[in-house]
Amino acid sequence: MCGIIGYVGHRKVVPLLLDGLRRLEYRGYDSAGVTVIRDGELVTVRAEGKLDRLVERLAGEPVDGSHGLGHTRWATHGPPLERNAHPMVDARSRLALIHNGIIENFLPLKRRLIAEGWEFSSDTDTEVVANLVSSYLDEEGDLRGAVARATRELEGLFAFALVSISGEREIVAYRQGPPLVLGIGERETFLASDPAALLTYTKDVVFLENGDLARLTEDGLEIQDASGEAVERESHRLLWDPIQAEKGGYKHFMLKEIHEQPQAIQDTFGGRVDFETGEVGFDYFSLDPEEAGAIREVHLLACGTSLHAGLVGKFLIEELARLPVQVDYGSEYRYRDPIVNEGTLAIGVSQSGETADTLSAMEAAKERGARLLAVCNVLGSQATRIAEGVVYTHAGPEIGVASTKAFTTQLVALYLVALYLRQQRGLPIGPEIVADLAHLPGAVDEALQQEGAIEEMARKYHLEEDFLYLGRGINYPIALEGALKLKEISYIHAEGYPAGEMKHGPIALIDQQLPVVNIATGDKVFEKMLGNMQEVKARDGAVIAVTDRDPSELEEIADEVLRVPRLSDHLQPIVNVVPLQLLAYFVGVRRGADVDQPRNLAKSVTVE
Ligand code: G6P
Repeated sequence: MCGIIGYVGHRKVVPLLLDGLRRLEYRGYDSAGVTVIRDGELVTVRAEGKLDRLVERLAGEPVDGSHGLGHTRWATHGPPLERNAHPMVDARSRLALIHNGIIENFLPLKRRLIAEGWEFSSDTDTEVVANLVSSYLDEEGDLRGAVARATRELEGLFAFALVSISGEREIVAYRQGPPLVLGIGERETFLASDPAALLTYTKDVVFLENGDLARLTEDGLEIQDASGEAVERESHRLLWDPIQAEKGGYKHFMLKEIHEQPQAIQDTFGGRVDFETGEVGFDYFSLDPEEAGAIREVHLLACGTSLHAGLVGKFLIEELARLPVQVDYGSEYRYRDPIVNEGTLAIGVSQSGETADTLSAMEAAKERGARLLAVCNVLGSQATRIAEGVVYTHAGPEIGVASTKAFTTQLVALYLVALYLRQQRGLPIGPEIVADLAHLPGAVDEALQQEGAIEEMARKYHLEEDFLYLGRGINYPIALEGALKLKEISYIHAEGYPAGEMKHGPIALIDQQLPVVNIATGDKVFEKMLGNMQEVKARDGAVIAVTDRDPSELEEIADEVLRVPRLSDHLQPIVNVVPLQLLAYFVGVRRGADVDQPRNLAKSVTVE
C-alpha cells in the first residue's frame, strides 16, 4: 500500500530510486514519482500508471541530484491521476513529500490551510501534510522541527519522508503506523517501506518505532522518539538474499515463488524440529508447561490468504493441541466485542506484518489480556513488535501480489505451533508425528511436476466466467484459497465452498458453464467427495479433481485429474494447494492478466 524509498549518499540517485521502486511496486502501481534536489532546487517527475511510465518519462528528461525520494502509489484519496501522484510539493515549492497511509483529519486541516492562503492542486490527504509542514518551516527554522510540529496535529496511521531546499543534504522521515526501515551503508543512508528494496545496497537496517522522527544524512541517522528524546534503535542484519527478490529467469514473480516453495518450506521447519524425538522449539517464542496449561483457547487473526492459513491452523491446533480455536478476519474482530482473557492465546498471521486490520485485531486481543503471538514473514515488522513472541515463516521476500509461498510456509509454521502447544501441554509426542515433514519439500516438488498438464488445462478453461471450488474438513480452506487465487489474478468469479454445503445452494448454479474443482484427498472424506463429484457430473458441470488416488479411480467421474502425493492429513493441504496456484497462474496468463500486479490490489494493505 504505497512504496516509499529515499537515498542520501554518493551513488547516482535516480537509478537507485527507480531500482528501489521496482522492488516496491507490488505495494501499489497507480502512479509513481521521484524528487531529487539539484543545485538547491526540487526536481520532481511523476507519471500516472505503472513505474514503466515514469521510467520512460525520465528517459526523455534525465535528471539527477544529490539526494532524493521515490514513491509508488496505491490510491486512497483521489483517483490515480498524475496530479495525485507523489512526491507532493508544497504550494511554495520548498519541500517534497512521499507518504504511505491515511491522514484521517485531512479535511479540517485542508480547510484551515486554504483559509490561510495555501493552495492545493491534488485531491490527496498527502498534500495537506506538505503544506502544513511548509507553513511551519519559517517559525521552526528547520525541516525536522517543522515536521515534529506538524505531526502533533495529524491523526491516523501514516509514514512519510521529506526533502527540502534548505541546503541541508538530509531526508526527514516520520512513522506512525506503516513501517519505515532505514538502511545504513558507507557514507550513505537509505529509507524504504520494505527491506526488500534495500537488499542490493545494504543488509544493515534499523526499523523505526511508532512516533519516531528520523533525520538521514550521508553521515548516518539521528532518531528522536515520540517524546522528542534522541534514541538509538537496534540495528538488524538482514538474512535475505538479494537474488531472491529477482525474477531469476521466470516470466513472473508468482511462478518463481510457486517454485520456491519446497525450499521455503524446508527453511521454515529446518532447525525447529528434532526428528528423533518429535520435539519442536522456536527462537522467539516459548511457553513453559504452566503457561501452556493456562491457555484455554486460541484466536487466529488474519486477512486474505493468511486468513485461509488460519482456517487450516484451526484444524491443526484443535486436533493436535486439543484447544478450541476461533478464526477471525482482522476487520471483523476489531469491531466486535470478542471474549478474551488471560487464557486466550491470540495469534496474528500475516506475511507482511503490517496489514492494518490484522494489527488492530492483535492490539484488541492484547488490550483485553490475551497473550500474543505473530506468525510473520517480515523481520521487524509491526506485527512482530507488538507480539510477545514470533514464529517467522522463512519464505524470503514475496513480491507477487497473490500470496503463494507465504501461504504454504504459514501452514508449516502453524503446524509447528500446534505441535509445540501439544508438547508443552503434556500431550504425547514422538518422531512419527513429525516424520512426514521431512517428506514435505519433496512432495511439493512432485506436485509441481504437474505444471505442463495444468498449463494445458488452462488453455481449455481460461474462457470460463465462473468456477466453484469444493473441499471438506481441513481442505475446505484450500478450496477457499484456490478460488481466491483464481479471482485475484484472472478476474474470474470463483467461490470456495464446503463440499457438503453444495446441495444447500451452489448446486443451483451447476451447468455446462461451471467447472467445479474438487479436492479429494485422504481417506476420511474421500467417498463423500466422490458423491459431490457425481452430483456435479449428473448436472453436466465439468469436474476437476485434485487427488492423491490413482487417476483410474476417478476416470468415470472426473474430466481432469490433478495428482498430488499423499501425506498425513495435517500436511496434505500444503501439497493440495500447489496445483490450484498453478491453475490460477496459467489461467491468468492465458487471459492476458497482469498476474504479478493484479488490478486494484496491493500486497500490504496498511489502511483500513
Ligand atoms: C492483501 C494481499 C493478500 C494477503 C492479505 C493479507 O490483500 O493482496 O495476498 O493475503 O493482504 O496480508 P498479510 O501481509 O497480512 O498476510
